[in-house]
Amino acid sequence: MYTQLEQRGMTDPPVNISTLRRMKQDREAIACLTAYDASYAALVDAAGTDVVLVGDSLGMVVQGHTTTVPVTVDDIIYHSRAVARGLRHAFLVADMPFMSYATPAQALQNSVRLMQEGAAKMIKLEGGAGQVGIVEHLAKHDIPVCAHIGLKPQSVHKIGGFKVRGRDPDDALQLVESAVQLQNAGADIVLIECVPNEIGKSISGVLDVPVIGIGAGPHVDGQILVLYDMLNITQGRTPKFVRNFQRGHDSPLAALQAYVAAVKGREYPAPEHCFS
Ligand code: KIV
Repeated sequence: MYTQLEQRGMTDPPVNISTLRRMKQDREAIACLTAYDASYAALVDAAGTDVVLVGDSLGMVVQGHTTTVPVTVDDIIYHSRAVARGLRHAFLVADMPFMSYATPAQALQNSVRLMQEGAAKMIKLEGGAGQVGIVEHLAKHDIPVCAHIGLKPQSVHKIGGFKVRGRDPDDALQLVESAVQLQNAGADIVLIECVPNEIGKSISGVLDVPVIGIGAGPHVDGQILVLYDMLNITQGRTPKFVRNFQRGHDSPLAALQAYVAAVKGREYPAPEHCFS
């Protein structure tokens, strides 16, 4: 029954939330990637990735939409179940899609579905001060939560595009305050997207929980990228923070191992991937 106790003696036990907290304390960088199917999940896992996210980015990179807005809870569950079958070591997080957490009751119901039907070990939602009550409600019911702040792609139609956040002092202060409020409400991880390096640094310095960045500079506790972006599968213009890890490698596994090594060695992100 207590499989986790049996795994204590293993040299490479599955990652859990305690592992991630310990990594933050030890200043060991956390390598995260998205995945959407079992085959890629197995490769991402074999490369030594610590956290795998079934992101609603699947709406863009798998389904071909121009935003993440059309993704449904059923879509995430379908992909999360497939990814879970490919993982041995990495910690599985699944995204709550647009409007699937508008009220505390709806958030709880959909989180339970992602965990029970999708085999996720944590859910991620895009949040700010307005989602503090939702995070509190989920935490009260022992749902592990990753709160995504900064650029929130589900709000693209409200904000008028994919924009860097935190460049003006009021916005920067608001981001730091929301991060603290979300942690205090019970968030176990904070993920920040597209902010200047200094904001990433301040937020990871002020929070006790691990802070994962995407376009948030080198000073956060871990990095995440969309798998198809870093493998150079995505066509057209990719964001400034993306590095093509497939270049110079003859297999996807070699590219993924290069990513994990670059994150752990703090060689990625380099200055050209950062915002100021
Ligand atoms: O949906 C997603 O893939 C994400 C990452 C960009 C962090 O939220």
